[in-house]
Amino acid sequence: MLLQATDEDGSQLSDQELRDEVMTLLLAGHETTANALSWTLMLLSQHPKSEAKLLQELHSVLGDCPPTVTDLNQLPYLQTVIKESMQLYPPVWALSREVVRECQIGEYRLPPGTLVYVSPWVMHRDSRFFEAPDQFRPERWADHLEQSSPPGAYLPFGDGPRVCIDQSFAMMEVKLLLARIVQTFHLTLVSDHPIELLPSITLPPKQGIGVVLSQRKSEKSKT
Ligand code: HEM
Repeated sequence: MLLQATDEDGSQLSDQELRDEVMTLLLAGHETTANALSWTLMLLSQHPKSEAKLLQELHSVLGDCPPTVTDLNQLPYLQTVIKESMQLYPPVWALSREVVRECQIGEYRLPPGTLVYVSPWVMHRDSRFFEAPDQFRPERWADHLEQSSPPGAYLPFGDGPRVCIDQSFAMMEVKLLLARIVQTFHLTLVSDHPIELLPSITLPPKQGIGVVLSQRKSEKSKT
Protein backbone atom coordinates (compact mmCIF):
# COMPACT_ATOMS: atom_id res chain seq x y z
CA MET A 1 0.00 0.00 0.00
CA LEU A 2 2.76 2.42 0.94
CA LEU A 3 4.44 1.86 -2.45
CA GLN A 4 1.38 3.43 -4.09
CA ALA A 5 1.21 6.22 -1.51
CA THR A 6 2.15 9.78 -2.35
CA ASP A 7 3.82 12.44 -0.31
CA GLU A 8 2.25 15.74 0.85
CA ASP A 9 3.45 17.31 -2.45
CA GLY A 10 1.92 14.51 -4.56
CA SER A 11 5.24 12.80 -5.42
CA GLN A 12 5.76 9.09 -4.88
CA LEU A 13 7.59 8.02 -1.71
CA SER A 14 11.31 7.34 -2.15
CA ASP A 15 12.82 4.12 -0.80
CA GLN A 16 14.23 6.09 2.12
CA GLU A 17 10.82 7.63 2.95
CA LEU A 18 9.17 4.24 2.65
CA ARG A 19 11.72 2.74 5.05
CA ASP A 20 11.17 5.65 7.45
CA GLU A 21 7.39 5.07 7.44
CA VAL A 22 7.86 1.37 8.18
CA MET A 23 10.28 2.17 11.03
CA THR A 24 7.81 4.68 12.48
CA LEU A 25 5.02 2.15 12.43
CA LEU A 26 7.20 -0.53 14.03
CA LEU A 27 8.53 1.72 16.77
CA ALA A 28 5.47 3.92 17.38
CA GLY A 29 2.95 1.14 16.92
CA HIS A 30 4.57 -2.10 18.07
CA GLU A 31 6.78 -1.25 21.07
CA THR A 32 4.21 1.04 22.66
CA THR A 33 1.44 -1.56 22.46
CA ALA A 34 3.77 -4.33 23.70
CA ASN A 35 4.79 -2.20 26.69
CA ALA A 36 1.19 -1.36 27.54
CA LEU A 37 0.32 -5.07 27.51
CA SER A 38 3.34 -6.11 29.58
CA TRP A 39 2.68 -3.58 32.35
CA THR A 40 -1.06 -4.29 32.36
CA LEU A 41 -0.49 -8.01 32.76
CA MET A 42 1.99 -7.35 35.58
CA LEU A 43 -0.51 -5.09 37.37
CA LEU A 44 -3.32 -7.62 37.02
CA SER A 45 -1.07 -10.34 38.47
CA GLN A 46 -0.34 -8.04 41.43
CA HIS A 47 -4.03 -7.15 41.93
CA PRO A 48 -6.09 -10.36 41.98
CA LYS A 49 -9.35 -8.56 42.82
CA SER A 50 -9.07 -6.46 39.66
CA GLU A 51 -8.16 -9.56 37.66
CA ALA A 52 -11.23 -11.39 39.04
CA LYS A 53 -13.50 -8.43 38.22
CA LEU A 54 -12.16 -8.29 34.68
CA LEU A 55 -12.54 -12.01 34.24
CA GLN A 56 -16.13 -11.82 35.40
CA GLU A 57 -16.90 -9.05 32.90
CA LEU A 58 -15.26 -11.02 30.08
CA HIS A 59 -17.11 -14.16 31.04
CA SER A 60 -20.53 -12.53 31.24
CA VAL A 61 -20.16 -10.74 27.89
CA LEU A 62 -18.13 -13.24 25.87
CA GLY A 63 -18.47 -16.62 27.56
CA ASP A 64 -15.61 -18.61 26.06
CA CYS A 65 -15.72 -16.86 22.66
CA PRO A 66 -12.80 -14.72 21.53
CA PRO A 67 -13.59 -10.99 21.68
CA THR A 68 -14.48 -9.11 18.51
CA VAL A 69 -14.40 -5.38 17.84
CA THR A 70 -18.16 -5.11 18.28
CA ASP A 71 -17.93 -6.62 21.81
CA LEU A 72 -15.58 -3.92 23.05
CA ASN A 73 -18.26 -1.34 23.88
CA GLN A 74 -19.75 -3.81 26.32
CA LEU A 75 -16.48 -4.21 28.23
CA PRO A 76 -16.13 -0.99 30.26
CA TYR A 77 -13.93 -2.48 32.99
CA LEU A 78 -11.44 -3.71 30.38
CA GLN A 79 -11.07 -0.11 29.23
CA THR A 80 -10.58 1.26 32.76
CA VAL A 81 -7.88 -1.35 33.46
CA ILE A 82 -5.91 -0.27 30.39
CA LYS A 83 -6.32 3.44 31.11
CA GLU A 84 -5.13 2.93 34.67
CA SER A 85 -2.18 0.84 33.54
CA MET A 86 -1.11 3.60 31.13
CA GLN A 87 -1.47 6.12 33.93
CA LEU A 88 1.05 4.24 36.07
CA TYR A 89 3.26 3.06 33.22
CA PRO A 90 2.81 5.35 30.21
CA PRO A 91 4.50 3.52 27.30
CA VAL A 92 5.79 6.90 26.08
CA TRP A 93 7.08 8.39 29.32
CA ALA A 94 8.53 11.64 27.93
CA LEU A 95 7.78 13.87 24.96
CA SER A 96 10.28 16.42 23.70
CA ARG A 97 10.06 19.50 21.52
CA GLU A 98 12.77 21.78 20.20
CA VAL A 99 12.06 25.51 20.32
CA VAL A 100 12.37 26.99 16.81
CA ARG A 101 11.37 30.59 17.64
CA GLU A 102 12.07 32.32 20.91
CA CYS A 103 9.00 32.14 23.13
CA GLN A 104 7.75 32.53 26.67
CA ILE A 105 6.09 29.70 28.62
CA GLY A 106 4.92 30.94 32.01
CA GLU A 107 7.95 32.49 33.70
CA TYR A 108 10.44 30.88 31.31
CA ARG A 109 11.97 32.63 28.31
CA LEU A 110 13.02 29.93 25.84
CA PRO A 111 15.65 30.68 23.17
CA PRO A 112 15.69 28.74 19.86
CA GLY A 113 17.33 25.34 20.18
CA THR A 114 16.06 24.73 23.73
CA LEU A 115 14.74 21.21 24.32
CA VAL A 116 11.50 21.13 26.30
CA TYR A 117 10.28 17.90 27.87
CA VAL A 118 6.79 17.00 29.00
CA SER A 119 6.59 13.74 30.91
CA PRO A 120 3.37 11.75 31.05
CA TRP A 121 5.02 9.71 33.86
CA VAL A 122 5.43 12.84 36.00
CA MET A 123 2.01 14.29 35.17
CA HIS A 124 0.21 10.97 35.81
CA ARG A 125 1.78 10.59 39.26
CA ASP A 126 1.01 14.12 40.44
CA SER A 127 -1.43 14.16 43.35
CA ARG A 128 -2.76 17.59 42.28
CA PHE A 129 -4.49 15.80 39.40
CA PHE A 130 -5.09 12.26 40.68
CA GLU A 131 -6.02 10.92 44.08
CA ALA A 132 -3.51 8.32 45.30
CA PRO A 133 -1.75 8.47 41.92
CA ASP A 134 0.70 5.65 42.69
CA GLN A 135 -2.03 3.13 43.42
CA PHE A 136 -3.63 0.83 40.84
CA ARG A 137 -7.29 1.87 40.91
CA PRO A 138 -8.98 1.16 37.56
CA GLU A 139 -12.32 2.30 39.04
CA ARG A 140 -11.14 5.91 38.99
CA TRP A 141 -11.76 5.95 35.21
CA ALA A 142 -15.36 4.77 35.45
CA ASP A 143 -16.87 8.27 35.71
CA HIS A 144 -15.24 10.02 32.75
CA LEU A 145 -12.27 11.21 34.80
CA GLU A 146 -10.41 11.89 31.56
CA GLN A 147 -12.87 14.60 30.50
CA SER A 148 -12.97 16.21 33.95
CA SER A 149 -9.14 16.29 34.41
CA PRO A 150 -7.23 19.47 33.51
CA PRO A 151 -5.92 19.44 29.92
CA GLY A 152 -2.56 17.68 29.74
CA ALA A 153 -2.92 15.90 33.09
CA TYR A 154 -3.47 12.51 31.41
CA LEU A 155 -1.67 12.16 28.13
CA PRO A 156 -0.57 8.60 27.33
CA PHE A 157 -1.11 9.36 23.64
CA GLY A 158 0.43 12.85 23.74
CA ASP A 159 -1.53 15.95 22.85
CA GLY A 160 -1.78 18.74 20.32
CA PRO A 161 -0.94 18.54 16.61
CA ARG A 162 1.40 15.53 17.04
CA VAL A 163 -0.98 13.45 19.15
CA CYS A 164 -0.78 9.69 18.39
CA ILE A 165 -2.38 9.19 15.00
CA ASP A 166 -3.59 5.74 15.94
CA GLN A 167 -4.86 5.89 19.48
CA SER A 168 -8.21 4.33 18.63
CA PHE A 169 -6.50 1.49 16.79
CA ALA A 170 -4.02 1.09 19.66
CA MET A 171 -6.80 0.88 22.27
CA MET A 172 -8.68 -1.63 20.15
CA GLU A 173 -5.56 -3.77 19.69
CA VAL A 174 -4.63 -3.73 23.39
CA LYS A 175 -8.23 -4.47 24.47
CA LEU A 176 -8.60 -7.43 22.10
CA LEU A 177 -5.25 -8.93 23.10
CA LEU A 178 -5.67 -8.36 26.82
CA ALA A 179 -9.19 -9.78 26.83
CA ARG A 180 -8.09 -12.93 25.03
CA ILE A 181 -4.98 -13.44 27.17
CA VAL A 182 -6.92 -12.98 30.43
CA GLN A 183 -9.73 -15.27 29.21
CA THR A 184 -7.22 -17.99 28.40
CA PHE A 185 -4.49 -17.76 31.04
CA HIS A 186 -3.97 -16.96 34.67
CA LEU A 187 -0.58 -15.30 35.09
CA THR A 188 1.56 -15.64 38.20
CA LEU A 189 4.63 -13.43 38.50
CA VAL A 190 7.94 -15.26 38.95
CA SER A 191 8.87 -14.04 42.42
CA ASP A 192 12.64 -13.62 41.98
CA HIS A 193 12.45 -12.13 38.48
CA PRO A 194 13.52 -8.46 38.76
CA ILE A 195 11.06 -5.87 37.46
CA GLU A 196 12.85 -2.70 36.47
CA LEU A 197 12.02 0.20 34.20
CA LEU A 198 14.11 0.93 31.13
CA PRO A 199 13.31 4.55 30.29
CA SER A 200 14.35 4.73 26.65
CA ILE A 201 12.18 6.11 23.81
CA THR A 202 9.44 3.89 25.18
CA LEU A 203 9.21 2.42 28.68
CA PRO A 204 9.77 -1.34 28.55
CA PRO A 205 10.46 -3.55 31.57
CA LYS A 206 14.26 -3.93 31.50
CA GLN A 207 14.32 -7.72 31.84
CA GLY A 208 10.77 -8.36 30.63
CA ILE A 209 8.09 -9.57 33.03
CA GLY A 210 8.64 -13.15 34.20
CA VAL A 211 5.36 -15.06 34.52
CA VAL A 212 4.09 -18.60 34.83
CA LEU A 213 1.08 -19.23 32.63
CA SER A 214 -1.68 -21.57 33.72
CA GLN A 215 -4.41 -22.32 31.26
CA ARG A 216 -7.85 -21.50 32.61
CA LYS A 217 -10.47 -24.20 32.39
CA SER A 218 -13.12 -23.25 29.87
CA GLU A 219 -16.78 -23.69 30.79
CA LYS A 220 -16.96 -26.55 28.28
CA SER A 221 -14.05 -28.45 29.79
CA LYS A 222 -15.39 -27.91 33.33
CA THR A 223 -18.61 -29.77 32.59
C1 HEM B 1 -0.61 1.92 23.57
C2 HEM B 1 -0.15 2.25 22.39
C3 HEM B 1 0.37 3.60 21.99
C4 HEM B 1 0.78 4.65 22.76
C5 HEM B 1 0.83 4.75 24.28
C6 HEM B 1 1.19 5.71 21.85
C7 HEM B 1 1.66 6.96 22.27
C8 HEM B 1 2.03 7.96 21.40
C9 HEM B 1 2.46 9.28 21.82
C10 HEM B 1 2.61 9.76 23.27
C11 HEM B 1 2.71 10.00 20.71
C12 HEM B 1 3.14 11.47 20.63
C13 HEM B 1 4.66 11.59 20.60
C14 HEM B 1 5.09 13.05 20.71
O1 HEM B 1 4.28 13.93 20.97
O2 HEM B 1 6.29 13.31 20.53
C15 HEM B 1 2.48 9.13 19.57
C16 HEM B 1 2.65 9.50 18.25
C17 HEM B 1 2.51 8.63 17.19
N1 HEM B 1 1.96 7.36 17.22
FE1 HEM B 1 1.37 6.38 18.89
N2 HEM B 1 1.03 5.27 20.57
C18 HEM B 1 0.52 4.01 20.61
C19 HEM B 1 0.18 3.22 19.51
C20 HEM B 1 0.38 3.55 18.20
C21 HEM B 1 0.06 2.71 17.07
C22 HEM B 1 -0.58 1.33 17.17
C23 HEM B 1 0.48 3.38 15.96
C24 HEM B 1 0.41 2.98 14.51
C25 HEM B 1 0.18 1.77 14.08
C26 HEM B 1 1.03 4.65 16.38
C27 HEM B 1 1.55 5.61 15.55
C28 HEM B 1 2.00 6.85 15.95
C29 HEM B 1 2.60 7.82 15.04
C30 HEM B 1 2.82 7.65 13.54
C31 HEM B 1 2.89 8.95 15.82
C32 HEM B 1 3.53 10.26 15.34
C33 HEM B 1 2.42 11.24 15.03
C34 HEM B 1 2.96 12.59 14.56
O3 HEM B 1 4.09 12.94 14.88
O4 HEM B 1 2.19 13.31 13.90
N3 HEM B 1 0.94 4.72 17.75
N4 HEM B 1 2.04 7.90 20.02
